[in-house]
Amino acid sequence: MKIRKAVIPAAGLGTRMLPITKSMPKEMLPIVDKPVIHYVVEEAIRAGIDDILIITGKGKRAIEDYFDRSFELEYYLREKGKLEELKQVEEIGEMVDIYYVRQKKPLGLGDAILHAEKHVNGEPFAVLLGDDIIVSEKPGIQQLIEVANKYSSPVIGVEKVPWEIVNRYGIVDGTQIDNDLYEVRDLIEKPSLEEAPSNIAIIGRYVLPPEIFGILKKTPPGKGGELQLTDALRILVSERKIFAKRISGKRYDVGTRLGFIRANIELGLLRQDLKEQINALLKELVREV
Ligand code: G1P
Repeated sequence: MKIRKAVIPAAGLGTRMLPITKSMPKEMLPIVDKPVIHYVVEEAIRAGIDDILIITGKGKRAIEDYFDRSFELEYYLREKGKLEELKQVEEIGEMVDIYYVRQKKPLGLGDAILHAEKHVNGEPFAVLLGDDIIVSEKPGIQQLIEVANKYSSPVIGVEKVPWEIVNRYGIVDGTQIDNDLYEVRDLIEKPSLEEAPSNIAIIGRYVLPPEIFGILKKTPPGKGGELQLTDALRILVSERKIFAKRISGKRYDVGTRLGFIRANIELGLLRQDLKEQINALLKELVREV
Protein backbone atom coordinates (compact mmCIF):
# COMPACT_ATOMS: atom_id res chain seq x y z
CA MET A 1 0.00 0.00 0.00
CA LYS A 2 1.43 3.32 -1.02
CA ILE A 3 1.09 6.02 1.63
CA ARG A 4 0.74 9.27 -0.28
CA LYS A 5 -1.05 11.48 2.17
CA ALA A 6 -0.03 12.87 5.52
CA VAL A 7 -2.04 14.69 8.12
CA ILE A 8 -0.36 17.15 10.46
CA PRO A 9 -2.61 18.20 13.34
CA ALA A 10 -1.66 21.76 14.29
CA ALA A 11 -4.75 23.02 16.05
CA GLY A 12 -3.62 22.62 19.67
CA LEU A 13 -3.39 25.66 21.89
CA GLY A 14 0.20 24.99 22.94
CA THR A 15 -0.48 25.61 26.63
CA ARG A 16 2.73 23.80 27.62
CA MET A 17 4.76 26.58 26.02
CA LEU A 18 2.93 29.66 27.29
CA PRO A 19 3.39 32.60 27.19
CA ILE A 20 4.99 32.54 23.69
CA THR A 21 2.07 30.49 22.33
CA LYS A 22 -0.39 33.15 23.44
CA SER A 23 -0.01 34.87 20.09
CA MET A 24 2.16 32.47 18.11
CA PRO A 25 1.36 28.92 16.98
CA LYS A 26 3.63 26.40 18.71
CA GLU A 27 4.28 24.86 15.28
CA MET A 28 5.98 28.14 14.27
CA LEU A 29 8.50 28.16 17.12
CA PRO A 30 11.95 28.47 15.55
CA ILE A 31 14.49 25.69 15.70
CA VAL A 32 17.65 27.48 14.55
CA ASP A 33 16.08 29.38 11.64
CA LYS A 34 13.15 27.25 10.55
CA PRO A 35 9.82 26.69 12.30
CA VAL A 36 9.19 23.30 13.88
CA ILE A 37 6.55 22.43 11.27
CA HIS A 38 9.09 22.89 8.45
CA TYR A 39 11.13 19.96 9.82
CA VAL A 40 7.98 17.84 10.08
CA VAL A 41 6.92 18.63 6.51
CA GLU A 42 10.46 17.83 5.32
CA GLU A 43 10.34 14.43 7.04
CA ALA A 44 7.07 13.61 5.25
CA ILE A 45 8.44 14.70 1.87
CA ARG A 46 11.61 12.64 2.35
CA ALA A 47 9.36 9.63 2.99
CA GLY A 48 7.72 10.07 -0.42
CA ILE A 49 4.55 11.84 0.73
CA ASP A 50 3.28 14.34 -1.81
CA ASP A 51 0.02 15.52 -0.25
CA ILE A 52 -0.16 17.11 3.19
CA LEU A 53 -3.24 18.20 5.09
CA ILE A 54 -2.62 20.52 8.01
CA ILE A 55 -5.41 20.73 10.58
CA THR A 56 -5.29 24.29 11.84
CA GLY A 57 -7.32 26.23 14.36
CA LYS A 58 -7.73 29.69 15.78
CA GLY A 59 -4.63 31.88 15.52
CA LYS A 60 -2.75 29.61 13.12
CA ARG A 61 -2.65 31.85 10.04
CA ALA A 62 1.14 32.17 10.29
CA ILE A 63 1.46 28.51 9.25
CA GLU A 64 -0.42 29.10 5.99
CA ASP A 65 1.56 32.26 5.28
CA TYR A 66 4.83 30.43 5.87
CA PHE A 67 4.18 27.76 3.25
CA ASP A 68 2.59 30.20 0.79
CA ARG A 69 4.53 32.14 -1.85
CA SER A 70 5.50 35.63 -0.72
CA PHE A 71 5.67 37.77 -3.84
CA GLU A 72 6.55 41.04 -2.08
CA LEU A 73 9.45 39.43 -0.25
CA GLU A 74 10.61 37.61 -3.38
CA TYR A 75 10.50 40.88 -5.36
CA TYR A 76 12.46 42.70 -2.66
CA LEU A 77 15.13 40.00 -2.43
CA ARG A 78 15.51 39.93 -6.23
CA GLU A 79 15.84 43.72 -6.37
CA LYS A 80 18.53 43.65 -3.69
CA GLY A 81 20.39 40.80 -5.37
CA LYS A 82 19.97 38.53 -2.33
CA LEU A 83 19.74 35.47 -4.52
CA GLU A 84 20.59 32.84 -1.94
CA GLU A 85 17.78 34.06 0.34
CA LEU A 86 15.44 34.33 -2.64
CA LYS A 87 16.04 30.69 -3.55
CA GLN A 88 15.35 29.60 0.00
CA VAL A 89 12.08 31.55 0.21
CA GLU A 90 10.89 30.34 -3.20
CA GLU A 91 11.63 26.72 -2.35
CA ILE A 92 9.46 26.82 0.78
CA GLY A 93 6.51 28.04 -1.29
CA GLU A 94 6.91 25.08 -3.63
CA MET A 95 7.81 22.23 -1.28
CA VAL A 96 4.71 20.08 -1.67
CA ASP A 97 0.91 20.31 -2.08
CA ILE A 98 -0.36 21.51 1.27
CA TYR A 99 -4.06 21.74 2.11
CA TYR A 100 -5.69 23.18 5.20
CA VAL A 101 -8.79 22.49 7.18
CA ARG A 102 -9.77 24.26 10.36
CA GLN A 103 -10.80 22.62 13.61
CA LYS A 104 -13.27 25.05 15.12
CA LYS A 105 -13.05 23.94 18.74
CA PRO A 106 -10.06 22.38 20.52
CA LEU A 107 -11.73 19.05 21.23
CA GLY A 108 -8.60 16.91 21.14
CA LEU A 109 -6.27 15.06 18.79
CA GLY A 110 -8.94 12.51 17.87
CA ASP A 111 -11.32 15.26 16.82
CA ALA A 112 -8.56 16.99 14.83
CA ILE A 113 -7.89 13.75 12.92
CA LEU A 114 -11.62 13.39 12.19
CA HIS A 115 -11.36 16.62 10.21
CA ALA A 116 -9.14 14.77 7.72
CA GLU A 117 -11.77 12.21 6.72
CA LYS A 118 -12.91 13.84 3.47
CA HIS A 119 -9.40 14.69 2.34
CA VAL A 120 -7.98 11.25 3.07
CA ASN A 121 -10.82 9.75 1.02
CA GLY A 122 -10.57 6.09 2.02
CA GLU A 123 -6.77 5.70 1.80
CA PRO A 124 -4.39 4.71 4.60
CA PHE A 125 -2.50 7.79 5.72
CA ALA A 126 0.39 9.03 7.84
CA VAL A 127 0.02 11.30 10.87
CA LEU A 128 2.90 13.46 12.10
CA LEU A 129 2.56 15.55 15.25
CA GLY A 130 4.54 18.75 15.42
CA ASP A 131 5.76 18.29 18.99
CA ASP A 132 8.36 15.80 17.90
CA ILE A 133 11.24 16.44 15.55
CA ILE A 134 13.02 13.25 14.53
CA VAL A 135 16.54 13.42 13.18
CA SER A 136 17.42 10.14 11.47
CA GLU A 137 18.98 8.84 8.33
CA LYS A 138 15.76 7.15 7.28
CA PRO A 139 12.81 9.48 7.98
CA GLY A 140 10.88 8.42 11.09
CA ILE A 141 7.57 8.15 9.26
CA GLN A 142 9.17 6.06 6.52
CA GLN A 143 10.30 3.54 9.12
CA LEU A 144 6.62 3.12 10.07
CA ILE A 145 5.43 2.99 6.46
CA GLU A 146 7.80 0.07 5.82
CA VAL A 147 6.32 -1.90 8.73
CA ALA A 148 2.78 -0.97 7.64
CA ASN A 149 3.54 -2.33 4.17
CA LYS A 150 5.15 -5.52 5.45
CA TYR A 151 2.24 -6.44 7.75
CA SER A 152 -0.60 -4.57 5.98
CA SER A 153 -1.41 -3.12 9.39
CA PRO A 154 -1.58 0.19 11.22
CA VAL A 155 1.67 1.20 12.94
CA ILE A 156 2.44 3.55 15.81
CA GLY A 157 5.85 5.15 16.41
CA VAL A 158 7.14 4.57 19.94
CA GLU A 159 10.14 5.19 22.14
CA LYS A 160 11.09 4.01 25.61
CA VAL A 161 10.89 6.96 27.99
CA PRO A 162 11.96 7.31 31.63
CA TRP A 163 9.22 5.84 33.86
CA GLU A 164 8.69 9.12 35.69
CA ILE A 165 7.30 10.78 32.53
CA VAL A 166 4.93 8.04 31.30
CA ASN A 167 2.02 10.28 32.33
CA ARG A 168 2.84 12.65 29.45
CA TYR A 169 2.29 10.07 26.71
CA GLY A 170 0.04 7.43 25.26
CA ILE A 171 1.55 4.17 26.54
CA VAL A 172 1.60 0.85 24.70
CA ASP A 173 1.23 -2.60 26.18
CA GLY A 174 2.64 -5.03 23.65
CA THR A 175 4.44 -8.25 22.86
CA GLN A 176 7.92 -7.77 21.50
CA ILE A 177 8.21 -9.60 18.18
CA ASP A 178 11.51 -8.17 17.00
CA ASN A 179 14.32 -5.99 18.25
CA ASP A 180 12.36 -2.77 17.81
CA LEU A 181 8.89 -4.04 16.98
CA TYR A 182 5.88 -4.86 19.17
CA GLU A 183 2.46 -6.24 18.49
CA VAL A 184 0.12 -3.98 20.42
CA ARG A 185 -2.15 -5.59 23.02
CA ASP A 186 -3.56 -2.45 24.55
CA LEU A 187 -2.94 1.27 24.87
CA ILE A 188 -3.61 3.83 27.55
CA GLU A 189 -3.51 7.60 27.26
CA LYS A 190 -1.36 9.40 29.83
CA PRO A 191 -1.49 6.80 32.62
CA SER A 192 -0.19 7.37 36.12
CA LEU A 193 3.01 5.54 37.00
CA GLU A 194 0.92 2.87 38.78
CA GLU A 195 -1.43 2.37 35.81
CA ALA A 196 1.28 2.27 33.12
CA PRO A 197 1.75 -1.21 31.63
CA SER A 198 5.18 -0.24 30.24
CA ASN A 199 7.37 2.75 29.50
CA ILE A 200 6.87 2.39 25.74
CA ALA A 201 5.50 5.78 24.76
CA ILE A 202 3.72 6.87 21.61
CA ILE A 203 5.71 9.57 19.89
CA GLY A 204 3.93 11.66 17.31
CA ARG A 205 4.03 9.35 14.28
CA TYR A 206 1.32 6.98 13.06
CA VAL A 207 0.25 5.12 9.93
CA LEU A 208 -3.52 4.74 10.16
CA PRO A 209 -6.20 2.99 8.12
CA PRO A 210 -9.32 4.87 7.02
CA GLU A 211 -11.46 2.77 9.44
CA ILE A 212 -10.11 5.00 12.19
CA PHE A 213 -12.66 7.67 11.24
CA GLY A 214 -15.69 5.43 11.90
CA ILE A 215 -14.12 4.41 15.21
CA LEU A 216 -13.33 7.99 16.24
CA LYS A 217 -16.99 8.88 15.68
CA LYS A 218 -18.07 6.36 18.29
CA THR A 219 -15.20 6.90 20.77
CA PRO A 220 -16.34 8.70 23.92
CA PRO A 221 -14.32 11.65 25.23
CA GLY A 222 -11.35 10.50 27.33
CA LYS A 223 -8.49 12.16 29.26
CA GLY A 224 -9.15 15.84 29.79
CA GLY A 225 -12.64 15.50 28.30
CA GLU A 226 -11.02 15.37 24.84
CA LEU A 227 -11.50 12.88 22.03
CA GLN A 228 -8.28 10.87 22.22
CA LEU A 229 -6.69 9.11 19.25
CA THR A 230 -5.20 6.60 21.70
CA ASP A 231 -8.72 5.59 22.83
CA ALA A 232 -9.78 5.04 19.21
CA LEU A 233 -6.67 2.91 18.60
CA ARG A 234 -7.63 0.89 21.65
CA ILE A 235 -10.91 0.01 19.91
CA LEU A 236 -9.10 -0.64 16.61
CA VAL A 237 -6.73 -3.13 18.27
CA SER A 238 -9.72 -5.25 19.29
CA GLU A 239 -10.61 -5.50 15.59
CA ARG A 240 -7.24 -5.93 13.87
CA LYS A 241 -3.51 -6.14 14.53
CA ILE A 242 -1.61 -2.95 15.26
CA PHE A 243 2.17 -2.75 15.47
CA ALA A 244 4.36 -0.36 17.43
CA LYS A 245 7.80 0.41 16.02
CA ARG A 246 10.60 1.94 17.99
CA ILE A 247 11.81 4.66 15.70
CA SER A 248 15.57 4.77 15.29
CA GLY A 249 17.05 8.23 15.32
CA LYS A 250 17.07 11.09 17.73
CA ARG A 251 13.79 12.58 18.88
CA TYR A 252 13.39 16.08 20.24
CA ASP A 253 10.24 16.87 22.17
CA VAL A 254 10.04 20.52 21.22
CA GLY A 255 6.74 20.90 23.08
CA THR A 256 8.66 21.23 26.35
CA ARG A 257 10.99 24.08 27.28
CA LEU A 258 14.08 21.96 27.78
CA GLY A 259 13.41 19.84 24.68
CA PHE A 260 13.01 23.03 22.67
CA ILE A 261 16.30 24.53 23.93
CA ARG A 262 18.10 21.24 23.39
CA ALA A 263 16.77 20.94 19.83
CA ASN A 264 18.02 24.42 19.03
CA ILE A 265 21.51 23.63 20.27
CA GLU A 266 21.80 20.16 18.77
CA LEU A 267 20.25 20.96 15.42
CA GLY A 268 22.43 24.05 15.33
CA LEU A 269 25.47 21.82 15.86
CA LEU A 270 24.42 19.76 12.83
CA ARG A 271 24.65 22.87 10.66
CA GLN A 272 28.02 23.26 8.95
CA ASP A 273 27.69 27.05 8.92
CA LEU A 274 27.07 27.29 12.69
CA LYS A 275 28.79 24.26 14.21
CA GLU A 276 32.08 25.89 15.11
CA GLN A 277 30.58 29.02 16.59
CA ILE A 278 28.06 27.10 18.69
CA ASN A 279 30.80 24.79 19.94
CA ALA A 280 32.90 27.78 20.97
CA LEU A 281 29.88 29.34 22.66
CA LEU A 282 29.12 26.18 24.62
CA LYS A 283 32.74 25.92 25.78
CA GLU A 284 32.66 29.52 26.90
CA LEU A 285 29.42 28.98 28.83
CA VAL A 286 30.71 25.84 30.52
CA ARG A 287 33.80 27.73 31.69
CA GLU A 288 31.53 30.33 33.26
CA VAL A 289 29.45 27.94 35.40
C1 G1P B 1 -0.43 13.26 22.01
C2 G1P B 1 -1.05 11.87 22.13
C3 G1P B 1 -0.19 10.97 23.01
C4 G1P B 1 1.23 10.93 22.45
C5 G1P B 1 1.79 12.35 22.30
C6 G1P B 1 3.14 12.33 21.60
O1 G1P B 1 -0.47 13.90 23.26
O2 G1P B 1 -2.37 12.00 22.69
O3 G1P B 1 -0.74 9.67 23.04
O4 G1P B 1 2.04 10.16 23.30
O5 G1P B 1 0.91 13.18 21.54
O6 G1P B 1 3.70 13.62 21.49
P1 G1P B 1 -0.21 15.48 23.46
O7 G1P B 1 1.28 15.64 23.52
O8 G1P B 1 -0.83 16.15 22.29
O9 G1P B 1 -0.87 15.82 24.75
